[in-house]
Amino acid sequence: MKSENNKKLTSYGDPGFSEFIRQAFNRHLGFDQEDFKKPVIGICNTKSEINRCHTHIGPLIEAVKKGVLMAGGIPLEFPTISLGEINTSPTTMLYRNLAAMDTEEMIRAQPIDGVVLVGGCDKVTPSQLMGAASADIPSIMITGGPMNNGEYEGRTLGACSDCRFFWQEFRGGSISEQEKDAINKELAPTAGHCMVMGSASTMAVCAEALGMMLPGGAAIPATHNRRLKHAMDTGKKIVELTIKGIKPSQIMTENTFDNAIRALMAVGGSTNAVIHLIAIAGRLGIKLPLERFDQLSRTTPFIANLRPAGKYQMEDFYKAGGAPAVLKELESILNVYELTVTGTTLKENLEGVTVSNVYRDIIYPFEQPLHKEGGIAVLKGNLAPNGAVIKPKAASKELLHHRGRAVVFSSTQELEKLIDDPSLDVQADDILVLQNAGPVGAPGMPEAGMLPIPQSLLKKGVRDMIRISDARMSGTAFGTVILHVAPESAVGGPIGLIKTGDLIEVDVEARRIQLLVSDEELANRKQQWSPPVIAQRGYAHIYQKHVMQADEGCDFDFLLAPQKEKVR
Ligand code: FES
Repeated sequence: MKSENNKKLTSYGDPGFSEFIRQAFNRHLGFDQEDFKKPVIGICNTKSEINRCHTHIGPLIEAVKKGVLMAGGIPLEFPTISLGEINTSPTTMLYRNLAAMDTEEMIRAQPIDGVVLVGGCDKVTPSQLMGAASADIPSIMITGGPMNNGEYEGRTLGACSDCRFFWQEFRGGSISEQEKDAINKELAPTAGHCMVMGSASTMAVCAEALGMMLPGGAAIPATHNRRLKHAMDTGKKIVELTIKGIKPSQIMTENTFDNAIRALMAVGGSTNAVIHLIAIAGRLGIKLPLERFDQLSRTTPFIANLRPAGKYQMEDFYKAGGAPAVLKELESILNVYELTVTGTTLKENLEGVTVSNVYRDIIYPFEQPLHKEGGIAVLKGNLAPNGAVIKPKAASKELLHHRGRAVVFSSTQELEKLIDDPSLDVQADDILVLQNAGPVGAPGMPEAGMLPIPQSLLKKGVRDMIRISDARMSGTAFGTVILHVAPESAVGGPIGLIKTGDLIEVDVEARRIQLLVSDEELANRKQQWSPPVIAQRGYAHIYQKHVMQADEGCDFDFLLAPQKEKVR
């Protein structure tokens, strides 16, 4: 059975010739034209030697192909932009939308009936889901999987939480140059993406909760043989899904986005997932206001004890049952009658899933959670009229309600220059503020939100302070860090009007963030403010002209689908 999509023909103004030339050119892999009457499955992948999170996905692609062939389809792999956080400047977030456009357009342009999305690093997963949502042909996601745990002198290491932790300790003088170098060798010991519940792991869990990945796929370590089996199963399943014509728009619904948000809250996942889920939903005409995240966070127990907000890592999470075990615990508050890429409902997928008591310190029971509420809170106030986010469980309890003096850095460049300057007037109870690091300002909203603690304070033993910015932070980062302040400085948001010495009050329980400066004074400052000059050419120009704010998902305004009628 064929879908309409495969009937697409290159436009020469002569369909007969288009068919003729296609037949000739499609013989290069040894297939006969008769073979192309079978479901043609694109394997959209981001293999790259520069992006280490995707270096190892070749064997997974081969396993997907085997699965497709076994199920009677024709697999054809094709590359799209590959993004890896560590080697991409200034940040992969700048290119997420470009990757999403690449994915969407290549799915649309090529004569494929279904597609398997093979990615992994943290901006690739959302970009592929955004592209697949817009292209809307049968699609299944599979990621490269997390690294195995690292270890140094009996202590488990996790990228990149420990990259940050030990670098801070080195700057504070508590570990030597030698120790720092020895630890460096063990931080990323195997193939795979970061192995704490950072953005990559979080987005993989969200993909499962959305129904776009076969059950269990998020947590299987990159090096485990189960991942190849999972890839092969994905290959078989996409053929079935294609024959049935089940599309992403039937799977990613308002209800499954709620499931994904609950999963995000239950695993203490990355704040970046808030932006990405809003962006994916926007491609389907579904609006996810920040309030929805806060509402679901307050009613979802935090049950997965995973770093950076908890104790364990993805390898342990896999043994404890991974995302299916979490979803099983949450079953009573999920929309379980939604369709998934298995072709069956979440309810059916969860039949028979159990959590062994052996692993109860990793995945807690719904009734006795690690924390009563989920992992992310949304703050609002005159400093962030359209919202900001914080991970309270990765923060210092005593700072969750705090009033302090602002110490302001007007850009990442200024931060870099001044943070360790011995003449910087900064105290432990001050609040560090970073401006102009948002989507338009930076541009691309880099992961600069976990501002370094000034070295002068590190040496006095200070390890956390409130930090506020319109930037993001890595999902692997930690501390009392308030992010995604909207509107951002570069579009005239109040965060850009803060001056060193202003008082700021944060009250996470009350979900408030206030700049204690009069409206009159803020209006005066706004009069003096002028917008930054944006890039005049290339992708940066498109980006700065069209990117939306953090609370809107940072997608381009021209890529949104028309909004759907509210069903909730
Ligand atoms: Fe790719 Fe951490 S750098 S997931």
